[in-house]
Amino acid sequence: MRDLTLLLLTLVALPAVFAVKSHDFKTCSQAGFCRRGRALAERAKENPSWKSPYSVDPSSVAIDSTTAAFTAGVKSSIYPEVKFGLDVRVHRDGVVRVRMDEIDGLRKRYDEAASWALVAEPEVSQDIQWTVAKDAVRAVYGDNKDIEVVVAYEPLRVTLLRNGKEQIVLNGEGLLHMEHFRTKEAVEQEKSGWALPEAPEEGLDLDDAQVVMQMNPRSWFEGAGDDALWEETFGSWTDSKPKGPESLSIDVNFPNHGHVYGIPQHATRLSLPTTSGEDAYYSDPYRLYNADVFEYLADSTMSLYGSIPVMHAHSADSTVAIFHAVGSETWIDVAHPKPSSTHTHWISESGIMDIFLMPGPTPADVFAQYARLTGTSALPAQWALGYHQCRWNYISSDDVRDVQTRFDEEDMPVDVFWLDIEYAEDHKYFIWDKKSFSDPVDMMHDVEEIQRKMVVIVDPHLKRTDSYPIYQQAKELDLLIKKKDGQEYEGWCWPGSSAWVDFFNPASWDWWKSLFKTVSDGDKWAWTESTENTYIWNDMNEPSIFNGPEISMPRDNIHYGGWEHRDVHNINGMLFHNMTTLAVMHRTDPPKRPFVLTRSFYAGSQRLSAMWTGDNLGTWEHMAVGVSMVLSLNVGGFSFSGSDVGGFFGNPEPEMLVRWYGVGAFSPFFRAHAHIDTKRREPYLLDEPYKSIVRDILRLRYSLLPVWYTAFREASVTGLPVVRPHYVVFPQDEGGFALDDQYFVGGSGLLVKPITSKDVTETTVYLPENEVYYDYFTGQTYRGAAKGKNVTVPAELHQIPLLIRGGSIIPTRERPRRSSPLMKYDPFTLRVALSTGGTARGELYLDEGETYAHREGQFIWREFEATTEGKKGKEIRVRSRNLAAQKPGEAVDGVALAAYDDKNDFARAMERVRVERIVLLGLAAKPKSVKAAGKDVDWEFKAGAAAASKAEGSASVLVVKDPHASITSDWDIIIQL
Ligand code: NOJ
Repeated sequence: MRDLTLLLLTLVALPAVFAVKSHDFKTCSQAGFCRRGRALAERAKENPSWKSPYSVDPSSVAIDSTTAAFTAGVKSSIYPEVKFGLDVRVHRDGVVRVRMDEIDGLRKRYDEAASWALVAEPEVSQDIQWTVAKDAVRAVYGDNKDIEVVVAYEPLRVTLLRNGKEQIVLNGEGLLHMEHFRTKEAVEQEKSGWALPEAPEEGLDLDDAQVVMQMNPRSWFEGAGDDALWEETFGSWTDSKPKGPESLSIDVNFPNHGHVYGIPQHATRLSLPTTSGEDAYYSDPYRLYNADVFEYLADSTMSLYGSIPVMHAHSADSTVAIFHAVGSETWIDVAHPKPSSTHTHWISESGIMDIFLMPGPTPADVFAQYARLTGTSALPAQWALGYHQCRWNYISSDDVRDVQTRFDEEDMPVDVFWLDIEYAEDHKYFIWDKKSFSDPVDMMHDVEEIQRKMVVIVDPHLKRTDSYPIYQQAKELDLLIKKKDGQEYEGWCWPGSSAWVDFFNPASWDWWKSLFKTVSDGDKWAWTESTENTYIWNDMNEPSIFNGPEISMPRDNIHYGGWEHRDVHNINGMLFHNMTTLAVMHRTDPPKRPFVLTRSFYAGSQRLSAMWTGDNLGTWEHMAVGVSMVLSLNVGGFSFSGSDVGGFFGNPEPEMLVRWYGVGAFSPFFRAHAHIDTKRREPYLLDEPYKSIVRDILRLRYSLLPVWYTAFREASVTGLPVVRPHYVVFPQDEGGFALDDQYFVGGSGLLVKPITSKDVTETTVYLPENEVYYDYFTGQTYRGAAKGKNVTVPAELHQIPLLIRGGSIIPTRERPRRSSPLMKYDPFTLRVALSTGGTARGELYLDEGETYAHREGQFIWREFEATTEGKKGKEIRVRSRNLAAQKPGEAVDGVALAAYDDKNDFARAMERVRVERIVLLGLAAKPKSVKAAGKDVDWEFKAGAAAASKAEGSASVLVVKDPHASITSDWDIIIQL
């Protein structure tokens, strides 16, 4: 069996050359429902009199007194006997939820996607006043009564407007179509009564179309043929489709927005290129169908491992978004009928329509609205923001120990060592292969000595052998996914013949959680050969099945509740990692912050896990697209993301590896990983000068951990992303809307442009405002312009283009340590980058980093500020204040700040932590004195460009040494010029 596994592994995982196996995955034209959906759009386009057959039945209109929801019956003139129900409600924050389902149908459509994605049932606004007219119902709301939602009856059309301007329109193109449940026999009978028209003749005009429609309404709208309604084959696979057709098509237009972003995960630009229309960039729609795409393309609309059906639409005066809570395969066409307008068409295989319209109007508002729906990124353990060293595989306990020693010998910081699938005997996760890992707990303890952690992989496939207790228990408890005939589903994955737990079955939840306990409770199985510092990697959870259709699970497999796999496919991976995260969190009492990395995800995954972009290739294209993919994931609410540093496949040359570390150090999640077939490439193996450059990059990441952690705190509260594309930070600056190779780190004011191509010595950085920006390392100043300006910055191999926006204060810790917990009591440096107006501001959030004590108010949250005061601006003050005290109405991770005590135990323990240095950039003149608490302190000044100076040059630098300032207390430093 082991030989067979190895053979499989070789066949499946070891390519001779890089080439995606496109034929393993469907294009739209190979998926019946996508074909039907696109054909509908084609027919609509070709027929100028096209009109949606769906309309609201005015006699059915009702306003629900408890939910303030507008409900109505909807009919399709094509199928007058079929009933649909519409429910439109407005949430307290102005989000509009539009739901439509088939009523009293032959079967029930899957309607539970939202229940997995939403963090809680949204609060509905009680203040909505619907005005019911003959042809439409409308409600005007919002603080300024500037938002309006209109449901027009015939044809059915839902429009969200702001100040009378259309923001989002549903069914404006008439592409709404919910294929109702039917039987094959009924369709055959119906068809037998049809006089099927010939294929429409060329030049068919309006009247002809109406004649055709009258003769045969269904063919006019749905197409005449029986296109894969009852069965579908792909390759050697047949999907039995016992429920028949049930797809959903809806056009979602943004008539006044020229850019759309989001719907991760695709390897493409952040501002989504078009897929339909005259100059379509891609020929296929964006596909959302979680898939293990081997050697994926770096520029494609193909599906990847996860799906977040959320899309932002942006223009200089408005940002709006939609979230479609659908768990089945979905294809999305994007077109720009004009540069300032976007049409999209969403085609899903099954499920109800459940669309949330987010009115914005700013990017920050949209992030907050989406966060209220699906939750924010959890605040991770602080160590998880350090550097992670992974490889498939570290082959033994001693190998792990050696790697750790080499990092320490080379003074390279690292927080986490990872073990891939080969630690597990016959790929039976949890069970150590004792031939190579004879002493796993001792090995973990050796890693923990340096306050490091280990992450170990646990995949969802269970080896089907009775000698594997996990499989045996799952089988006994009847927790495994079934085939359509009700028998256990068997597929092939790393362990050979495998079965999959059905995490939709609530009975699986406590059982799965119990497996991760490190101490056995009676004779129950527990993972006693692990420690509380063993964290988990969930891979292959799309699910990836080597011998399944599209390397995944047959769609007619059955989950808990009788739902087919097709209904829940995109949600499936999230349930697995959610349960694993909860298991890890509750391994201890009180719980500790968990860490679980997942490959597959859905809307809501951000609440509990981190993700990475899967099996990228060691190419410059993949490095570059990894940057925009991470930005897109951040747009989709999933901040804690990164791509494999080095590229999973291939052997990157040293230059490429160095640049990849530059990318990783500026990703929220920073992990190097490599395929089993690649040469070892731990950074200490590099020759000089590469090795030293990478050491510097690792140290740079560690010195900036306070910035990352502060950004994660903000993300965990507001939903704002940890890495922010230009349109998020400068929503009105058109020049930045398409940018996806430079971005900001949280709200810190750090602007980075990682280099992702070969032989670069300099690059341009776009500066969106008339403000000074400083090179982080050299203090060189660059001056932007109100309408945006490109400046040229040095980018030799040892240089990362990293600028500080004038007006920012960056807190860092600059003592090199072996791991991040060892930095706990290290002093801080503050880099104060004065704006042209002579001010600056920054934040620092800090807590114990691993537990939930911060939820009991154990944290510090400081604001640093610099202001220019006194006559003729001759006095500069830099001060530190308790930020929590300024925000009594807000909360940190659920804790109301009103109750915050800045003398909490954590803050007391940190009292002795100092600001050891303040580096002030851009002073106008040499100081006469620098005083802290009335006393002179040491300082040094290097003359140079002032912040306000129009000329670019080396900024003046004042270094204030040890200003007797604790990180936890209020202080003022006064600089007299
Ligand atoms: C596929 C994952 O994407 C990759 O990172 C991992 O190394 C292999 N599975 C083996 O577990």
